[in-house]
Amino acid sequence: MPELRFPEGFLWGTATSGHQVEGDNVHSDWWAWENMPGSPVREPSGRACEHFWRYPADVRLLAELGLNTYRFSVEWSRVEPEDRMIETSALAHYRDVVEAVRAAGMTPVVTLNHFTLPAWLGRRGGWLNPRAPERFASYCARVVEFLGDRVDWYATINESASVAFGGYLGALDFPPGRKDLRSWERANQALVAAHQAAREAIHGVRPQARVGQTFTITEWAASGGGVPVVEYLRAMMEDVFVEASADDDWVGVQSYTREHLAAPAVLEPVLRRALASGLVRRLVVPPAVRVATRGFGGPRRMAPGTRTTLMGYEYRPEAIGAAVRRVAELLPGKPILITEHGVATKDDAERVEYISRGLATVRECLDDGLPVLGYLHWSAFDNFEWALGYRPTFGLIGVDRQTQERIVRPSARFLGEIARSGVLALPGDS
Ligand code: FCB
Repeated sequence: MPELRFPEGFLWGTATSGHQVEGDNVHSDWWAWENMPGSPVREPSGRACEHFWRYPADVRLLAELGLNTYRFSVEWSRVEPEDRMIETSALAHYRDVVEAVRAAGMTPVVTLNHFTLPAWLGRRGGWLNPRAPERFASYCARVVEFLGDRVDWYATINESASVAFGGYLGALDFPPGRKDLRSWERANQALVAAHQAAREAIHGVRPQARVGQTFTITEWAASGGGVPVVEYLRAMMEDVFVEASADDDWVGVQSYTREHLAAPAVLEPVLRRALASGLVRRLVVPPAVRVATRGFGGPRRMAPGTRTTLMGYEYRPEAIGAAVRRVAELLPGKPILITEHGVATKDDAERVEYISRGLATVRECLDDGLPVLGYLHWSAFDNFEWALGYRPTFGLIGVDRQTQERIVRPSARFLGEIARSGVLALPGDS
């Protein structure tokens, strides 16, 4: 059987985020968003996976599978439930989580913001509040001070692009529910400023910390008139954040699918001019993006018979390789950690295949000399998938919604075995 070998010291693990797994995240803007009358969210997060209370057993389980890394997030709204009121017991909780991860022999990778904001900031405009970047940086400094030398790896903000186009352009039914181009552009700028301020603040407290942020990077396939549109979307959703990480210690790459954008070639100059014009952009882009992304995905045009996931995405494990290459091209030599890659499916065999095909492209990136440090799968558990609720199941480990029982799937054992051995056995030809 052909096999692919991965480097010694490669980080192998899974990722989660606080709001999606902890439960009862009551001081967050998402909690308010889910529970408001007429909420666009399919169901509230409620008790989620009760990971806030069950983390000791959950963490042990992940380590027993053979994984050596666990990425999770600290919830700002637990640490600072009211403006300038730091909840020491919340900091102590996260220190306990870090200790549990380390005691189990795993490296903690801590995300400081994974989509959610404290409700007090949400009520004051969220990321559009002029003080948001500075408030974020000061929260980050408090966390890093508290966790001290127990954590080396920090991601400031998870997928700024999704936060901005999801909640400020209105593409994803995310809070605060703004839907205009100006808000989108301003949210982008605020998130860049917040990331950079946080990086400085963290290094101020702990110069040895390795600070980065995570990006959502799509594999784009465009032709004709689709080309200028993709260039515009890349600039607004990807490059702006990647370029803001030029001075980071590492970057996180996450990719879920490929998007096709084909339009007749005659439209190319027209669309290029239209996108360069501020007025047309303002009038056309927000409704176009909303129509094109209805149902969470990106702008899509799929050939009949295309294999899809429970998210409605094209099933395209190899998109991660394309994403790594794109980021490596923009930031040559920058260490890259794959911080998410996964698939929503009811059929776990599809998940095994997804991991295997995704890792084969990661191995090719390593062969080409790209500095990939590790692979963290999304996700450890079936969890709260934002506006789509609990329907899309991404877990290596299933969670019974009634009993909270953890159900270890074959894909979890598959990834654990690769982590233990550093070897991926590929299905043979015969
Ligand atoms: C990413 C998010 C993560 C999860 C996966 C499916 O965009 O970072 O929280 O929702 O998608």
